[in-house]
Amino acid sequence: MGPFGAKVRFRILKFDDMDEKEIKRLGTYGVIKGAMYFILGAVEEKPQAMEDLGYTMEKIISKATSLGLGTCWLAGTFRRSAFAEKIELTDNELLPAVTPLGFAAEKRSTLEKMMRRGAASKKRKPWSDLFFKDASRNPLTEKEAGNFKQVLEAVRIGPSASNRQPWRIIRESEDKYHLYLEESKIYNRMMGKIHIQNIDMGIAMSHFELAAHELGLPGSWKVDLEDPYHTDMQYIASWC
Ligand SMILES: Cc1cc2nc3c(=O)[nH]c(=O)nc-3n(C[C@H](O)[C@H](O)[C@H](O)COP(=O)(O)O)c2cc1C
Repeated sequence: MGPFGAKVRFRILKFDDMDEKEIKRLGTYGVIKGAMYFILGAVEEKPQAMEDLGYTMEKIISKATSLGLGTCWLAGTFRRSAFAEKIELTDNELLPAVTPLGFAAEKRSTLEKMMRRGAASKKRKPWSDLFFKDASRNPLTEKEAGNFKQVLEAVRIGPSASNRQPWRIIRESEDKYHLYLEESKIYNRMMGKIHIQNIDMGIAMSHFELAAHELGLPGSWKVDLEDPYHTDMQYIASWC
C-alpha cells in the first residue's frame, strides 16, 4: 500500500518463458531491447493512486539500482493492453507503468541517445526553479535548506516523465515541507486515467523519504492536511 492507501500489486514477467511472437506482441516500440525481465505495477483505481504507484514502484526500482541492476520507467512507450493480460488486471485496477530489469548495455544505442536528447535527460532544473521558502516562490538556497539539503537534492535528481521535473516544494520551517505538482495539464491528462505527472510526485515522495531516513531526520508524509498556501499548483502532501 502507498501513502494514500491505494492497494498496489507487482509482478515480475520473465521473457524467456514465452515464445518469439508473444515477446513481439508485448512490444516496447524498440525502446527496450534484450531485457529478459519486466516488473509490472498495478494499482487500485482511487484518488491519488498514481502517487501510490510511483512511490511504491520507485522503492523497488531504488532497491534494484542499489543491487547494480538497470531499470527504466515506462508509462508511455509500452503496449498497455498486452502487459495488462500478463498481470491479470482487474476491472478496478490500472496498470500505470512497467520497467525492464536487467544489466544495462555498456554502449547507448542511437535511439536511446536520440530519446535522451529529446527529454534533455541528465539535465535537471536548478534549485531556484524547484524549492521555495514561501508561496511567492522566493528561492530556498542550498545553504538555507541546512540538514535537508541532501533530501531536496535527492528529489531534484530523480526521474520524471519526459524529464519535465514538475515537483515544487515550499519550506514552511526547518523540518516542515509542502509538496506540489506544477502540472502540464494537457500532457498529464493525455492518457486518460493514467496521470503520468502524478506518478512523478510519488517518486519524489519516495526519494525525499529515503534520503531523510538515511540521514536520520525527523518527519513523515502527511497526506490528509489542507494546502496551507493555496497556490495555483496542485497540492500533494506535507512532510512534518
Ligand atoms: C513516470 C515516468 C514515466 C516514464 N515513461 C517513459 C516512457 O514511456 N518511455 C521512455 O523511454 N522513458 C520514460 N521515462 C523515462 C524518462 O524519460 C527519464 O527518466 C527522464 O528523461 C530522465 O532521464 P534520466 O533519469 O536518464 O536523467 C519515464 C519516467 C518516469 C518517471
